[in-house]
Amino acid sequence: MIHITRRERFNAAHRLFREEWSDEQNLEVFGKCSNPKWHGHNYELFVTVKGEIDPETGFLLNLKDLSLLIRERVIEKVDHRNLNLEVDFMKGRLVSSENIAAAIWDELAEGVRKLGAELHCVRLVETENNSVEFYGYNS
Ligand code: NI
Repeated sequence: MIHITRRERFNAAHRLFREEWSDEQNLEVFGKCSNPKWHGHNYELFVTVKGEIDPETGFLLNLKDLSLLIRERVIEKVDHRNLNLEVDFMKGRLVSSENIAAAIWDELAEGVRKLGAELHCVRLVETENNSVEFYGYNS
């Protein structure tokens, strides 16, 4: 079993808030990320896949294919976008790093399987100090 990680980056705007709460309540729970006028992050996305090494190629999979998949399913939809308003796979979800990572998992899992590997981890770095790792629904 081998693990391979591909890094991609994107810039996006978001706001953490619950519509039914006042601005004050949102600020109390979500802090600066609840700013009603939006704000952005330079996100780093690390996608780790796992599987067995193909004895013919020496690869687990072709990293170019993995990069293309991540670009098509995720980066093109989120880069320079407003995650609350413009991203189909975030519709109806609170735009926290946790939920973004889980939604990205949903976008990628099947495509990774088609490339002959299994998705292992989606790691999303929001700031230098804060990151989340999503390992799927049963781990
Ligand atoms: Ni934020």
